[in-house]
Amino acid sequence: MIIEPRMRGFICTTSHPEGCAQNVKNQIEYIKSKGAVNGAKKVLVIGASTGFGLASRITSAFGCDAATIGVFFEKAPSEGKTASPGWYNSAAFETEAHTAGLYAKSINGDAFSNEIKKQTIDLIKADLGQVDLIIYSLASPVRMHPTTGVLHRSVLKPIGSTFTNKTVDFHSGKVSEISIEPCSGDDIENTVAVMGGEDWSMWIDALKAENLLAPGATTVAYSYIGPSLTEAVYRKGTIGRAKDHLEATAFAITDRLASINGKAYVSVNKALVTQASSAIPVIPLYISLLYKIMKEEGIHEGCIEQIQRLYQERLYTGNEVPVDDSGRIRIDDLEMRSDVQEKVAKLWIQAVTENLAEIGDLEGYRKDFYNLFGFDVAGVDYKAETNEVVNIESIA
Ligand code: NAI
Ligand code: NA
Repeated sequence: MIIEPRMRGFICTTSHPEGCAQNVKNQIEYIKSKGAVNGAKKVLVIGASTGFGLASRITSAFGCDAATIGVFFEKAPSEGKTASPGWYNSAAFETEAHTAGLYAKSINGDAFSNEIKKQTIDLIKADLGQVDLIIYSLASPVRMHPTTGVLHRSVLKPIGSTFTNKTVDFHSGKVSEISIEPCSGDDIENTVAVMGGEDWSMWIDALKAENLLAPGATTVAYSYIGPSLTEAVYRKGTIGRAKDHLEATAFAITDRLASINGKAYVSVNKALVTQASSAIPVIPLYISLLYKIMKEEGIHEGCIEQIQRLYQERLYTGNEVPVDDSGRIRIDDLEMRSDVQEKVAKLWIQAVTENLAEIGDLEGYRKDFYNLFGFDVAGVDYKAETNEVVNIESIA
C-alpha cells in the first residue's frame, strides 16, 4: 500500500518500512565512517528499537563488531496496517547485521515482566553464554510490576507548585502558555516505579544469578538533566525523581557487581526528538531553540552521534571512564555549554508564534519527528507501493 503519515494528537499512527530502514542504514553508515571501537562483544540492549537504544545497538554491532540481543515492545504489522516504527527499525537492523555476518536476535514483549526476562536469559544461555555490556534504554509511560501486579503510570508534572511557561505545538507552530498542576497522591512513587532504577536492578540481578555477566561486564542506563528552563517540569519534577532513583541505582548495582568487577553507569544524554520526549510539555520548544543554536555552532548531534561518542570517548578509551562529581557520564556536555545555554535562554524570552520558525529550528524539529516514523527521509519514494508486512528475521 501507499503509506502516509496519519497524526492523532501528538503521535503518528502510521510508519513507513522503507523510511525506517533507510534511517537505520544511515546510522550504520555513520558508525562505519567513524571506524572501529574496541568495545563490548556480546551486548544486550533493553529498549533497542528506537532512539538511544537503537543507536546503542547499531554502535555495538557496527562499531564494536558485537553480537546483539535487542529487547523492545513494538507492534507487529498486519495486512493493511503498518507496524510501529521500532518494528521496522529492528527488521532492518537484523537484515543489515546478518548480511554483515553479525549475530542479532530480538525479543518483542514487556521488558518489565518476568516472562521476557526469562526468555532473554534462555536466549543468552543458548547463544551467547554471557554478555559484557547491557544497555538499559526503556522509555515507557506504564509498568506492570512483576511482583505486586500493580500497574504504575508515570506522570510528567512539577512537584509542589503549578508550573507556568511557554510551550509549542510543533505541528502548528503555535507558541502558547501552559500551566501544569503539581503532582498529587502517589504520582511520584508511580513515576519512580516506571522510570526509576528498580527494573534495571531486576534485570542485572537476574542475569547475575544465572552467571550470564562476563567478568568486568558494564551496564549503562540513560538519564537527562537539561537547563533551568525545564527544571520544574523535568529534573525537579516527577520524572526527575525517577532519574534521581535511576542514578542512585547505578551505585547500588556497581556494589553488587564487585565479585565480577562489573560496573554500572548512568550516561546523561542530550535532549533529542524521540517518541518519548515529544510527549513532554515545554521540551519541544526548548529543543527547537537548542537545535537552532547547536546547528549554528556546528555541534548538533542526533542519537547516533551521541552514542558513538559515548562508546569511543567515554566507555572504551582504554582508560578509566570519565564521570562528573555525581559519578555520571556526561555526553550532554555540548548542550550544557554555557554559551549555548545563554543563547537559548535569550531566544526563549523572545519566542512567539510569529518568530519561532525563524529564531528556532521548528523545521528541524518537525523533520526529526517525521523521521522517527520513517517519513520525510531522503532517498525514499513515498509515492510508491510498499509492503507493510515486514518480518523481523529472528522473530518471523
Ligand atoms: P524511545 O521512545 O525512542 O525508546 C524507548 C524504547 O523502549 C523502545 O525501544 C521501546 O520499544 C522500548 N520499550 C518501551 N516500553 C517497553 C516495555 N514495556 N518493554 C520493552 N521495551 C519497551 O525513547 P528514548 O528517548 O530513546 O529514551 C531512552 C532513554 O533515554 C530513557 O531513559 C530517556 O529518559 C533517556 N533520555 C532521553 C532523552 C531525549 O531527549 N529523548 C535525553 C536523555 C535521556
Ligand atoms: Na531507546
